[in-house]
Amino acid sequence: MSMNYFIYTYGCQMNVHESEKLAGILQARGFMPCENVEDADVIVLNTCCVRETAETKVYGHLGRIKSKKKQGSIIVVCGCMTQQNGAAERLVKRCPFVNIVIGTFNQPRLGDYLDRFILTGTRIIDVWASEKDGNVDELASPVRSSGINAWVNIMYGCNNFCTYCIVPYVRGRERCRPIDDIIADVDSLLSQGYKQITLLGQNVNSYKYADKTFTDLLQELESDSKYRLKFMTSHPKDVSPKLAQIIYDSKVLSHSLHLPVQAGSDRILQAMNRHYTRDEYLTKIAAFRDLLPDIGLSSDVMVGFPTETEEDFEQTLDLVERVKYNNLFMFIYSQRSGTPADKMPQLDYDTKQNRIDRLIKFQFEISKELAAQSVGKFAEVLVSDKDGNKCYGKSETDAAITFESDTAAIGDFVRVKITASKNANLSGEVV
Ligand code: SAH
Ligand code: SF4
Ligand code: F3S
Repeated sequence: MSMNYFIYTYGCQMNVHESEKLAGILQARGFMPCENVEDADVIVLNTCCVRETAETKVYGHLGRIKSKKKQGSIIVVCGCMTQQNGAAERLVKRCPFVNIVIGTFNQPRLGDYLDRFILTGTRIIDVWASEKDGNVDELASPVRSSGINAWVNIMYGCNNFCTYCIVPYVRGRERCRPIDDIIADVDSLLSQGYKQITLLGQNVNSYKYADKTFTDLLQELESDSKYRLKFMTSHPKDVSPKLAQIIYDSKVLSHSLHLPVQAGSDRILQAMNRHYTRDEYLTKIAAFRDLLPDIGLSSDVMVGFPTETEEDFEQTLDLVERVKYNNLFMFIYSQRSGTPADKMPQLDYDTKQNRIDRLIKFQFEISKELAAQSVGKFAEVLVSDKDGNKCYGKSETDAAITFESDTAAIGDFVRVKITASKNANLSGEVV
């Protein structure tokens, strides 16, 4: 009888990819993925704690899993949430049915912990205090489940300590992988047929290995074979005008940039410890647009940071209006224990809710307007999904486009004319 596993993944792409590595460890031990958590012998929750909502979800899920899991199944909790101050202790007290708790630095050891638990039946709680014993080797070969796209870590951790953010505390200091390892991974993935590679790091622009920088890495990944290269996330303080030139010259890089601004007010940006002003940000955006007028821009924006006034918020709206992002990820600031912003004077719930509602409406109109403007233009869509003859994919500027085709297959690059827009959604026809 086969042994099954089920993995729940919360949070960012970093976690999505780490779950692929956990799946690799499990499959190497003979476990197979299953569709329903009820059938799983091993249930893994790979958690996130970037906002309070993420944590509430994990506890809710644990409660539901407890009532439907089959008898004797092993429950593993890992990922960022376990790494927070006191979180692992709270978790094991609150959820006695959780068998194994692992931190972010020792995730590659899942296999050893499972073996030990199966042998002894003794609960294992092992959360390391820092990355010092960890390494930047990719110990597990991932079982990839992101279709045509393959994620590749180029670095781990973060040194920036934005005052609202928990990530540096739960992921440790910045560690960069050797450039040759990254290049070898990408080469191997391309020869396996992946059509898109996304490089991952909390701040890819600060990648450094020996004397090589992020832009050197991008140049090394240039290729005559057809594929699309993306990266995330960029930090406005470290992004260089050279990057715009490299995208412009490249045959493989996506003409898109995710450049999280967080806020439009200089006072708030300073309180967030972001190390740039709104003018510096807008100047960088202008440099990209000068060279790449059609570049797809996206960003993360937060409302309700401690002490944010109506005027500060209006500065955010103003910046969003000036940039006109194609895609915007909008968040309500969430207090994270242990971060400096947690100790600052907080805003009330209604004010934060009112601001996020206004921002969402504001951006909706911009997305709609930009989508309408792209009707009549041409795009090269990389097909990532197909249902009947309906194809879905992203353009070279990262716009999502649907079109119909009997012949196009997943993984094809298809030239399409954009014929209609509905809200922010685009549809087109093969040309
Ligand atoms: N390293 C990336 C992503 C970090 S987390 C970066 O610097 O952009 C992704 C997003 O979550 C952040 O960009 C931020 O907008 C949001 N975020 C982080 N901490 C938050 C908090 N305490 N409350 C609400 N949103 C938060
Ligand atoms: Fe968090 Fe800032 Fe690091 Fe991004 S750059 S992970 S927002 S501390
Ligand atoms: Fe990602 Fe959440 Fe951790 S956003 S790095 S999974 S706290």
